[in-house]
Amino acid sequence: MGTQFLHVVLVPIPSQGHISPILQLGTILHTRGFSITVCHHEFYPVDPSCFPHLNFQPLKDGSSNNNGSCNDDSSSSFNWVDSILSLNDKYKVSLEDSLTQIVRASRQQINNSLPCVIYDGWMYVAAQVANDLNLPSVAFHTSNAGNFMNYLITPRLFEEGHIPIQDSKLLQQVPGFSPFRFKDLSLPSMENLDAMLKLSTFFCDTRTTSAMIINTIEFLEQSLLEMLKKHFQIPIFSIGPTHKVSPTICSSLLEEDTSCISWLDKQAPNSVLYVSFGSIIFLNKEELTELAWGLVNSKQSFLWVIPPSSLGGLRSLESLPDGFEDAIKERGYVVKWAPQKEVLAHDAVGGFFSHCGWNSTVESISTGIPMICSPNFGDQLLNARYLSHVWSIGIELEKGFCREEIENAIRRLMSDVEGKEMRKRAMDLMKMVEASVRRGGSSSNNLNELVDFISSF
Ligand code: UDX
Repeated sequence: MGTQFLHVVLVPIPSQGHISPILQLGTILHTRGFSITVCHHEFYPVDPSCFPHLNFQPLKDGSSNNNGSCNDDSSSSFNWVDSILSLNDKYKVSLEDSLTQIVRASRQQINNSLPCVIYDGWMYVAAQVANDLNLPSVAFHTSNAGNFMNYLITPRLFEEGHIPIQDSKLLQQVPGFSPFRFKDLSLPSMENLDAMLKLSTFFCDTRTTSAMIINTIEFLEQSLLEMLKKHFQIPIFSIGPTHKVSPTICSSLLEEDTSCISWLDKQAPNSVLYVSFGSIIFLNKEELTELAWGLVNSKQSFLWVIPPSSLGGLRSLESLPDGFEDAIKERGYVVKWAPQKEVLAHDAVGGFFSHCGWNSTVESISTGIPMICSPNFGDQLLNARYLSHVWSIGIELEKGFCREEIENAIRRLMSDVEGKEMRKRAMDLMKMVEASVRRGGSSSNNLNELVDFISSF
């Protein structure tokens, strides 16, 4: 009989959109009887006192001059690929030390059980470290199967001569990956070709991994999940969306401004557009101005989240254009950070203007809210295509931040028949999500299988 693994070590990456689902997973597994240790990056501002049920072990940055976060507030641009590669390099030694200590402590305990390591798929170095210590490891992909497939096919697209992609091909379908076009994928450019190919290889390497968890829902990505299951000879558990399964936990980076809920309480049902572009976005002055006037000109009520970090070099909310405040009067409300899930569940909210990060996408689907999609990088591009062309609950902007297009999209979503139909489809999806996480639903069943799997190594 194998050793019992009742202790799980979680290895997140330090980014809001990734830390939330992994802490949700930790909380779910804790309720199933597992003891959980989170190896978190020392400078990342998660408050362990908010999670008394989890143990925290800080990882130290092996280099000298970085704050360790994937989204450094002080920069006005962001290089995801280099950031992830360097994160894995910088924290490898500290992760080895931490896991060695955890193993030693486990051995001294009476049941002599060893931990199973569940790591964010982007923190792939954890699989190597776990393997060196003879620990089983499971990759947790906090985004969806489509995003995983994007990186899986990148080397093939390179070999077939599609990469670096030429502008003339951007609107063409990706061979073997319908309905996505080249422009919907996160692909290397000439400048980051080697780094991106290297990252894709590490991200999709499952040689020492026992299983994969994906924070998706079977009905959303059925055929892709089947393809992945055929391709990899390891179990794949789709258990999402974790925020629907986990008891409410607060993993917010920034303090939530709850005054916006009192403001929403005074608005009519489905009348407010919620506007937020997640935790990793940098708006320049022109984009901010176009967005602001697009919102004003639409004459629609809106709640707009502008985190200070999204303004890059700009000085906070004072950077909003002159006349904006007078023009919106009672119709607009701006906060630095909102309790997003509560906002999306509020009756007054009828649409979400989003960057289409995966958490925002599943939170919107889970509350039956249709979207305006303005993707920026990574999986957001693919999510926007899913929303607009597969699930048909989103309108994708094609011109970046352009006030006329924004105004027009807001009208279509919030007042036209087109928007009403999208809302109806979004409500249908919401019901399907609820059924998936209920007892007997696909995510619920997959979660039970995952629990059995990691209990039986
Ligand atoms: C990043 C990437 O950008 C995204 O593409 C990837 O899928 C996950 O990692 P992020 O940009 O932060 O994520 O976006 P998203 O995935 O949408 O996560 C943002 C989280 O912050 C959501 O859970 C949302 O509820 C929360 N949030 C956002 C708040 O709680 N309040 C806010 O005001 C804004």
